[in-house]
This record gives sequence, C-alpha cells and structure tokens, in this order.
Amino acid sequence: MRIDPFQSERLLSLWQNKVDYDFTETGVHPMFLHELVSREELDEIYASVQLRYIQTDGPPPLKEAICGLYEACGHENLLVTNGSAEANFLAVWHLVEPGDRVVAVLPNYMQVPGVARGFGAEVVPVYLRPEHAWGLDLEELEGAVRPGAKILYVTNPNNPTGAILSAAEMDAVVAAAEAAGAWLLADEVYRGAELDGESSPSFWGRYHKTIVVGGLSKAYTLPGLRLGWVLTDPELAATLWGYHDYTTISTNAVSERLARLALRPEVRARILERNHTISKRNLRGLSDWLAAHGDTFNFVPPRIGGVAFVGYNLPLGSTELVMQLLQEHSVLVVPGEAFGADRYLRIGYGNPRLLEGLALINETIERLRASM
Ligand SMILES: Cc1ncc(COP(=O)(O)O)c(C=O)c1O
Repeated sequence: MRIDPFQSERLLSLWQNKVDYDFTETGVHPMFLHELVSREELDEIYASVQLRYIQTDGPPPLKEAICGLYEACGHENLLVTNGSAEANFLAVWHLVEPGDRVVAVLPNYMQVPGVARGFGAEVVPVYLRPEHAWGLDLEELEGAVRPGAKILYVTNPNNPTGAILSAAEMDAVVAAAEAAGAWLLADEVYRGAELDGESSPSFWGRYHKTIVVGGLSKAYTLPGLRLGWVLTDPELAATLWGYHDYTTISTNAVSERLARLALRPEVRARILERNHTISKRNLRGLSDWLAAHGDTFNFVPPRIGGVAFVGYNLPLGSTELVMQLLQEHSVLVVPGEAFGADRYLRIGYGNPRLLEGLALINETIERLRASM
C-alpha cells in the first residue's frame, strides 16, 4: 500500500525537536511530569507499576475515568489506544474498502484523509469557510454526503482553525450522516480546550453509527503519554479491539496510571485551568503581534486554546515562508499548504516563549512586505 506523505507530521518529525522556537504544538505547551504528579504520587507509581502488557482494550479503572467525560458511556463502548492517532487509524483501517466515499470536513489534521486515500477511498472535501468564521456550508455538506458514503469525518473543535461547530451545524452533520447511512467519525481530541471554559457538546449519543475519538494530547496537554480512545457501539468497539491486537497490543503501563491521575476531577480541573490561563494570555500576545503588522495578516480568532490559523498577504507560498523562518530564525510553524490552504500559517500559540520567537521573525516579515 502506498500512502501520501503526511505533510504536517513529516515537518514536525524532521524539525520539531531541533528548532529553538517550536510553534507547531497545537495544544498548549505540554506539561512536565512534575506539574502533573506530586512526589508522593510518583513514589506510589514507582512502587506499584509493573511494566507488563496491561488489559489490552484498557484497564477498567481507566475506562471508568474516561466514561466520566461522556453521558451514557459503558466500558463496552470504549477501546483505549496509543494516542487518538491510533484510534483514527483503526477506524479507517477497518471501515474503508477501495472505492468507498469518505467525506472529510477540511481543513483538518489530515490523518484520516491521508489514510483513507491510502486504503483506496475517494476522499471528498467539504471546506470550512473563513468568510463564515470557519463555519460549514450546509448545502455543500448535504451535496457531498451522498447515500452510500462510508464515513463523514469531522474534527470538532477543529485543528487547524480553532473553530467550533454551532448546534445547527452539528445537527446538519448528524442529519447528513444519517441520511447517507455513513459512519460519523468525530475527532474530538480538542474537547476541553475551549477558551470560554464551556466544554463543547460531543457527538456521542447523537446517532447510532457514531465513532468518537478522544485523547489526552491536546486539551490535557499530555501528548507524551500517547493515550487516546475510541468511543462507539459495543460491536464496533470489539471489532476495533481485534485490529488493535495487530497494531500496538496495549497502551503502556506507566501512561495508564498517569492518565487515570490526570482524569481525576480535581486534577483535570487544575490542568484545564492552567491551559486556559496560558492560552488567554498568549492569544492576546499573538493578536497584538499580528495587528502590529498592519494588513499583512488576517485571522478568525480561535475558540480553543493552542492553535490559530492565520492568513497572510506576502509574496510567497506558505511552505517557502515556513522554510525561510526556520532557516533564518530557527522558528517553526506549519504551512497552510499542509492542510490544503496555502497563504495560511498554523501557529501553535501555547508556547511560553511565543512572543520572543515572534519578535525574532519581525524582520523577515517586514522585508517580505517591503518587497511587494
Ligand atoms: C485532530 C487531531 N486528531 C488526532 C491527533 C493525534 O494526536 P494524538 O495521537 O497525540 O492523540 C492530532 C494531533 O495533532 C489532531 O490534531
């Protein structure tokens, strides 16, 4: 099987851990272990964790904690995976046959379109519209999700735009999937990162053919735990568990314990509060910086912490611009081209050194602007 390069992840794989200023992280700056656990908790983990394969679909105490995030969730609905990336992969691997129609709301993280295309699907895009604050064109959606479509894929809240679907848009997504008999694959890994502190509604429970994907990498800023999940009907959850036997078998024993800890109500509240505080402060800084460059930049302010999709008016494509910023200043952002939207940059704004890094690239931006 041949796959298209996963453009954004390839760039991160090559550069993320080599640059001075990494603004590719779409959650807020990841937590340090010492921010998550106390010495006593760490001692307890040290003394009691055995480094074995844990229950491969997810140990009951972890499932219990994850179910606490949803209405009407039973252990049989859940499969715990290595990141939400594995969850998405398993769903597409199982569902997609060559020639299937997969409708993807774009721009998005691009994993599902890439994998689905690799398995032979026809991937049909439905674009979020910047002129409608990254909202959906409902007619376009209805037209794209034809009867027989296999999957309707949405990322909500959305990476890279930071937008959140309205109640009417969610209704339309459910109706379109239902009318077509398609599986609704809803990647909700950013749920909990909302800047107004109101958790956005889940698609869970809206339609019997729903697959919700979640995880601890974004809203919880714990990507290094590699902890995600699939929430779906028991039959599909059991089937995907069989597929998980072939990929990674189980999640890791240390992450599982740390995940349980992170999902304790008081710890969860503390993590989300940390991230809201950083996001709000940094978003003000980012907005001021963009405004200071006159009409060079335009953006719809994101509604979640961590990620902003910024349009620009400069005389070069986004990949070229990103490479210039990388080479001249060791500052890394992701080109919009990786999401099928050139003349945009995805800026992860949750880094504590955001303003320092942005100040460094002023000179390049002004030089390019003057050359127009
Ligand atoms: C929408 C979306 N889904 C899934 C992932 C993969 O995340 P992880 O596997 O760390 O949970 C990402 C990462 O950026 C993402 O943005």
